[in-house]
Amino acid sequence: MGSNLLLNMADHGYAVIGFDLKLERGEALEAAAKEGTIVKGVNTLAEMTAGLKTPRKIMMLVPAGNPVDDVIAKLLPLLEKNDIVIDGGNSFFKDTLHRIEYLQDKGIHFFGMGVSGGEMGARIGPSMMPGGDKAAYQYLKPLLEAIAAKAGDKPCVAYMGAGAAGHYVKMVHNGIEYALMQMISEAYDLLRRGANYSNSELHNLFKKWNDQSLRSFLIQITAEIFKTGDSATPGNEDFLIDAILDQAGSKGTGKWTSQEAMNLPVSIPTIDMAVAMRDLSVYKEERIKAAKLYSPAVGTVSASKAALETDLEHALNFCFAIAYIQGLNMLSKASEIHQMNTHLPSVVQVWKSGCIIRSSLLELFERAYARNETLSNLLLDEEVARAVKKGEESIRRIISIFIKSKIPVAGMSSALAYFDAYCSERLPTNLIQAQRDYFGAHTYRRIDREGVFHTEWHSGEPPSS
Ligand code: 6PG
Repeated sequence: MGSNLLLNMADHGYAVIGFDLKLERGEALEAAAKEGTIVKGVNTLAEMTAGLKTPRKIMMLVPAGNPVDDVIAKLLPLLEKNDIVIDGGNSFFKDTLHRIEYLQDKGIHFFGMGVSGGEMGARIGPSMMPGGDKAAYQYLKPLLEAIAAKAGDKPCVAYMGAGAAGHYVKMVHNGIEYALMQMISEAYDLLRRGANYSNSELHNLFKKWNDQSLRSFLIQITAEIFKTGDSATPGNEDFLIDAILDQAGSKGTGKWTSQEAMNLPVSIPTIDMAVAMRDLSVYKEERIKAAKLYSPAVGTVSASKAALETDLEHALNFCFAIAYIQGLNMLSKASEIHQMNTHLPSVVQVWKSGCIIRSSLLELFERAYARNETLSNLLLDEEVARAVKKGEESIRRIISIFIKSKIPVAGMSSALAYFDAYCSERLPTNLIQAQRDYFGAHTYRRIDREGVFHTEWHSGEPPSS
């Protein structure tokens, strides 16, 4: 990804130097440069820093955790006051905060910047989420805007806020990414195992959806996946997807999103559920034993293909909207709690192109924030409400089809449950308060008068066990 970002910068007229310990990587970088561009590959940090104009702008692309601190330690003696160091990896935002403080004392500006779009995105235009010292951002802005993906004529990069806002926004981006991927995989499961769709039919359906209301990068690549053959097995006519083990890995950003949401606290159950389902997928051997023990025979879906496809399209639209809404709601609360001053309309703008969660749905949220940019929860916007309601009947029908067919639907059902709870004027939490007060004297408040109350719920002996 580093080489591709550098080549992208060079294409836009910037002179760049790439550092890699392996000499051949530097040579490959120079060989890949277009004629007329200035691209140099070096294998020592001293050569790199000596070749850069001050204030230097240095971007690190290394795995999150200790490798980031190792590179900083090696760079530090070679840097001067006012140099700018950018961490373009998926670092945990609290680590970024510590690094900002540590380097601030030494006069170095440190930026945590989420970069989305993978290898290809880095070459042709990534979505970037930088955060840190606002004054120093002015030195980066022209370069980042030149290389970023564009949505219309607007660059998909913007200042995400103070401190570690850049990595915080990228963390939530990844949480939403987990949720969308989980729910797409559930739709796939229903169609493949419940309604016996072939991979070719799945390809056609996802391709059609991508041309309609579900236009998004993840639906687009899913369509491509269903038509990919298994080139690793000579003579095999089957599709690769059927040969892939059903265990998903993760690097931690989804888990951090859930943990941080609970710290705020704010409810993002669809992201939580997506993390939980990836974790559950890892227990393959136990799942095999449980499947033998309970033999959950998958029931065939009786709905017609046309009805199923229409309902599933509307249901996915509903669920996708809820996943973004949960993530953006989290960012609104986090901005306040962590004093990041994150401008949510800019977050939506940055996600509109170049990143993994880009989707036509973001245009709906853009319009909602244009009406009220401080909206804490997008479900409170009237146009969003109309769009969400359009999918409501479909999601209810689809969930019941999943349940009758015994196909797991954790992500999509959590989206509906969140919607139902958020839109409930009265929740059964009064009973939880009564129970807490019963066993722990935690007190409760009443709906008819001010104050805090406690009741002696049992007279005499407590209930026996
Ligand atoms: C992106 C991706 C990228 C990476 C994820 C994968 O925006 O380009 O989010 O950052 O693919 O970190 O995360 P998991 O390994 O946790 O699925």
